[in-house]
Amino acid sequence: MDTELPTAAAEAVLPSSSLFLPVVVSTAVAMLLGTVAYLYGPYWGVRKVPGPPTVPLLGHIPLMAKYGPDVFSVLAKRYGPIFRFHLGRQPLVIIADPELCREVGIKKFKHFPNRSIPSPIASSPLHQKGLFFTRDTRWSIMRNTILSVYQPSYLASLIPTMQSYIEAATQNLLPTSEDDVVFSNLSLQLATDVIGQAAFGVDFGLSKPQQQQQDKTIGNDDDVTNFINQHIYSTTQLKMDLSGSVSIILGLLLPVLQEPVRQLLKRIPGTMDRRVENVNVDISSRLDKIVAKRTNEENRGSSKDFLSLILKAKETQSEEVARTVFAPDYVSAVTYEHLLAGSATTSFTLSSALYLVAGHPEVEKKLVAEIDAFGPRDVLPTANDLQHKFPYLDQASLSVVKESLRYYLVSPLVARETSSEVEIGGYRLPKGTWVWLAPGVLAKDPKNFPEPEKFRPERFDLNGDEEKQRHPYAFIPFGIGPRACIGQKFSIQEIKLSLIHLYRNYVFRHSPNMEKPLELEYGIVLNFKHGVKLRVTKRT
Ligand code: HEM
Repeated sequence: MDTELPTAAAEAVLPSSSLFLPVVVSTAVAMLLGTVAYLYGPYWGVRKVPGPPTVPLLGHIPLMAKYGPDVFSVLAKRYGPIFRFHLGRQPLVIIADPELCREVGIKKFKHFPNRSIPSPIASSPLHQKGLFFTRDTRWSIMRNTILSVYQPSYLASLIPTMQSYIEAATQNLLPTSEDDVVFSNLSLQLATDVIGQAAFGVDFGLSKPQQQQQDKTIGNDDDVTNFINQHIYSTTQLKMDLSGSVSIILGLLLPVLQEPVRQLLKRIPGTMDRRVENVNVDISSRLDKIVAKRTNEENRGSSKDFLSLILKAKETQSEEVARTVFAPDYVSAVTYEHLLAGSATTSFTLSSALYLVAGHPEVEKKLVAEIDAFGPRDVLPTANDLQHKFPYLDQASLSVVKESLRYYLVSPLVARETSSEVEIGGYRLPKGTWVWLAPGVLAKDPKNFPEPEKFRPERFDLNGDEEKQRHPYAFIPFGIGPRACIGQKFSIQEIKLSLIHLYRNYVFRHSPNMEKPLELEYGIVLNFKHGVKLRVTKRT
């Protein structure tokens, strides 16, 4: 077949040779300018904020490889309390000063009502519909509804449930004191069970002694068991996949390509993007089934789990809000988010407390004395007891928790995004700037925490000079202002109850098989690279 255009037609379609070169050159120049504008546009708005020189495309990612988790402390020393850090093309303005954190998180909150959405989340609708990443009015309606559920009486009513899981989980400790207990696994099972019961009203059965778990899973293929298996797969296995997903890496370097590439790769068998997509779709559909089933349950009114309470709260909203803000996919997402936000964080903090106390016998002695002074081992403390009746125990055990949180801060960065132009620390930041607070830098700053590398719970003694002199926002492990963590009281209650039960019955020492110093994995939240391995002795 003749594919050549007739001369007249070809002239009409192709520019004449005198025009050809200028058209090509101007197209190339326009493309080049477009690329430069795309790559450097976000930088331009914040160029006056100090920061180290950047590597094209990679930004400051190589510095992370060089300095590891200390990178932000190193840069804060060099560039001051507000500086630029480029995640690929995306500049972050890092805030490493308590007063500036107060300004961003509280005083100028109306300019920072939302979190920036990082690339792993940008490709996951399930994660974007929870409280963490919803924005503006939708967020405030959701948050107020959730806060109405988190009444002190609700938390107090959870104590017996929490305690029963703690007791079940610690049966697994029964003692072969020559063997290692991987406490970080045990505490993750415990925290997942507790939040599973509190969020969904179901028993995931992970903390049950092993034999019972096997009995339970035999022949049991209900939605919940399948769902939790899939969830555990996604938070353990898939975490590795997420870091290897091509679209997520592209999201970091060239976000404009992330969604088209994800759409393409999720159709190609064997790619990480396809596996991430499959797991997300699977979890979402299982969640939707659980939510639909609970919505239609006749006796739901008497249930006290988060999902039932949210469905009840939804009924009190206007028809419009119930239909949009509390559409079933959002209810699923916000319930699932509890499981995600409440399990790894709480279990990490409990494990690090045990690890740190096990390495500091003087702290252990004080803690055990306080706990023993409470009374017989079988008396369960009430919420009121936990808060008021044991000032010494409460203060000291809380100090152990606080100091553990400070020492290994589970969320060393807290994200915000400007919704309008605003001035912070003498710099004008345009709308859309990613501003990240750095509680991890504050927690290791000797100005607020002298000898920061020492584990010393007494630094939080309310009557001590160190506590009195410290800036009120130097310690913000649960974030700051209206967007701070909603689960703080829940997790502190669970951690305190766990410590009381554990130290009433056991003492712990580091296993000789544990690496020294402890190695950590830096993901969205902090984790242990090789787990926390302890030797357990039963107290008589
Ligand atoms: C030791 C345990 C925990 C730590 C250290 C922790 C830490 C944090 C931090 C740093 C934030 C960001 C706050 C900010 O941006 O200012 C946050 C937000 C959040 N946390 Fe937690 N968290 C913990 C436990 C929990 C639990 C148990 C739940 C659920 C019951 C939970 C649910 C959430 C939610 C939903 C948000 C988003 C709040 C919003 O945007 O309105 N967290 N958490």
